[in-house]
Amino acid sequence: MEILMKFWCLDLVALRGFVFSILILNFVFSCQILFLQPLVAALDGQPSDAAALFERASQSIKVKKYSEALDDLIAAIETDPGLSEAYWHQASILRRFCRYEESEKSYKKFLEMKPRNSAAEKELAQLFQAQSALDSAKSLFDSGNFTKALEFIDKVILVFSPACSEAKLLKVRLLLTAKDYSSAISETGHVLKEDEDNLEALLLRGRAYYYLADHDVAIRHYQKGLRLDPEHGELKKAYFGLKNLLKKTKSAEDNASKGKLRLAVEEYKTALALDPDHTAYNVHLHLGLCKVLVKLGRGKEAVTSCSGALEIDEELLEALVQRGEAKLLVEDWEGAVADLKSAAEKSPQDMNIREALMRAERSLKLSQRKDYYKILGISKTASVSEIKRAYKKLALQWHPDKNVDNRAEAEAKFQEIAAAYEILGDEEKRTKYDSGEDIDEGMGMGGGGFNPFGGEGQQYTFHFEGGFPGGGFGGFHF
Ligand SMILES: *[C@@H]1O[C@H](CO)[C@@H](O)[C@H](O)[C@H]1NC(C)=O
Ligand SMILES: *[C@@H]1O[C@H](CO)[C@@H](O)[C@H](O)[C@H]1NC(C)=O
Repeated sequence: MEILMKFWCLDLVALRGFVFSILILNFVFSCQILFLQPLVAALDGQPSDAAALFERASQSIKVKKYSEALDDLIAAIETDPGLSEAYWHQASILRRFCRYEESEKSYKKFLEMKPRNSAAEKELAQLFQAQSALDSAKSLFDSGNFTKALEFIDKVILVFSPACSEAKLLKVRLLLTAKDYSSAISETGHVLKEDEDNLEALLLRGRAYYYLADHDVAIRHYQKGLRLDPEHGELKKAYFGLKNLLKKTKSAEDNASKGKLRLAVEEYKTALALDPDHTAYNVHLHLGLCKVLVKLGRGKEAVTSCSGALEIDEELLEALVQRGEAKLLVEDWEGAVADLKSAAEKSPQDMNIREALMRAERSLKLSQRKDYYKILGISKTASVSEIKRAYKKLALQWHPDKNVDNRAEAEAKFQEIAAAYEILGDEEKRTKYDSGEDIDEGMGMGGGGFNPFGGEGQQYTFHFEGGFPGGGFGGFHF
């Protein structure tokens, strides 16, 4: 508005001068664009002469910016193919990156120009060593000789070609076979810092996280790789394999929580078969399977599954407890007590474990005492008279006086039979025995303390109420 007002106030002469000065300014501005542009470009883009390029490359090498240095050296050689030092620098950098064939050409070019340069000749010889070390590492890796392969690969990385991604990634594969996942993660980190789209580095880093059971991070690496190359075979296999594992696990857990135990067993088994090497994760699958099997009463299989979990992680408390329960199912009382005892030691406050341990100990104790019903050859529901009848029959049969040829055996049998009758023939003691209570230390536990015989060669006297069938033995008393 103000400018417009000024226009109206200017006279014609002044207006002509004004227009003229605008034209001049315009001309100067155009000249700036035309002539200054190349100058500006030369300052922050490519220096045009070989010496300047070479100088800048040398500066880049000093600060370890090898890729930039390499670009400048290539440009320098293009502008001045006679710049011998540029070939040597280029050769050294290419060797660092293990681009051995290109490196060899550059060394040879330099040596054509400067024959018998001993430093360059030495480097060229080292290049051949590096090349053969990398080849050896690759073939040793393929033949499964991982220890030796690692020696060669370290020679390549630590001595000749510290910026060799191929060697570094082969080393990562070796670290993965050695289950050194945290080193694999840090090595791939270095490679990705140089080249964030390196597919193999993404794959191997994902795999390291996978084996640490850090599945979310693994999936992110696989996905990034697949966005760059959707058809990458190993990445696809890793990604979909992991997705499938997670799906099967979820299906197993869902079925288990809904009480569909048999389906859960099948799903757990399928999930476990997917990658037997994935121990950090399979430990939980083994445990999940074990718990379902315990619920189903399939003790033998449950013991195997829980042992699988404990082989991977011997400190896994829950697996120890579940295996104890599983051993109770297969009547391995001692095994159950051992597992539950060590679980109770690990977690002394856990009342459930203590309760389970007490159950196991009682079962063990019951199993160790003699089965008096079996000794008398009667059922657990036998009546008083059945017990009495069985006892009389066996006592007669095994009376030492009637077994002169096998007296020792008969004495033992007779003693056992008497001990059985001592308990089962007494209503109160029988009730206690049936409920698993201790009757008497010496008596309940194997009858070792009970001896109806006073000593060797004693005359046995029997005394039955209501007379002894068949007679002839005198009295019989306890
Ligand atoms: C690995 O290779 C080295 C040298 O090539 C050899 O001496 C060694 O026996 C090999 N080890 C195995 C386990 O094959
Ligand atoms: C249970 O397992 C079957 C396969 O055996 C699966 O199709 C189903 O989705 C699972 N059920 C649940 C609730 O996850």
